[in-house]
Amino acid sequence: MAKEIQSWAYEEPISSPFALPRGVLGRLAGRLMLWLNDPSELVPLIGKQDSVLEVGCGPGGLLRHIEAGRVCGMDPSPDMLRQAARHNRGRGVELRLGTAADTGCPDDSFDVVVSVNNVAMWPDLEAGVHELCRVTRPDGRLLIAWHSATGRSPIARKNALPEEKLARIAHALGEPTQRHELKNLTVLEKRCHG
Ligand SMILES: C[S@@+](CC[C@H](N)C(=O)[O-])C[C@H]1O[C@@H](n2cnc3c(N)ncnc32)[C@H](O)[C@@H]1O
Repeated sequence: MAKEIQSWAYEEPISSPFALPRGVLGRLAGRLMLWLNDPSELVPLIGKQDSVLEVGCGPGGLLRHIEAGRVCGMDPSPDMLRQAARHNRGRGVELRLGTAADTGCPDDSFDVVVSVNNVAMWPDLEAGVHELCRVTRPDGRLLIAWHSATGRSPIARKNALPEEKLARIAHALGEPTQRHELKNLTVLEKRCHG
């Protein structure tokens, strides 16, 4: 893994262990993610599906709640994949190394692809959206979620993206994009190839 990320969303390169979790600090960040982030509110939006990919799954907090024939979690951090494996033991979750812009999956692989709290860490927003739509089956959905400004955790609220950045994500997704305001997350939803 690189030492820092130059993301599309921030002026300065990011080197935080929440964006690049590795080593002791990364593992600690993983534990905090599980404690601070409650992505279970996304489950009704994901709905009942045959196959779901979560990209940037971190320590696997959301994966624990997804019920689907095939559940795949992906992250560029081997440390996070190890934590996700531990927290999803016995659930048959497939865990793979990869990024939003390079999943390594064939076209049309999943009914729903979801990204939680990592879109602002992607180096190239458009490349990520393009790749995630590619691996979503025709008429499947891509959900991009980020900390909302009204979430329960003050740290998460501080990290909420300004409207202009959310508008950039919506623009990259293209029409028609739906927006959902959940308790802790703002979600942008796109029906791919629709
Ligand atoms: C703040 S954590 C969020 C983890 C989890 N989704 C959650 O909400 O608790 C961000 C995660 O995104 C991953 N990540 C960093 N760059 C990424 C990229 N380009 N594509 C996908 N995931 C990325 C990191 O390794 C980290 O596990």
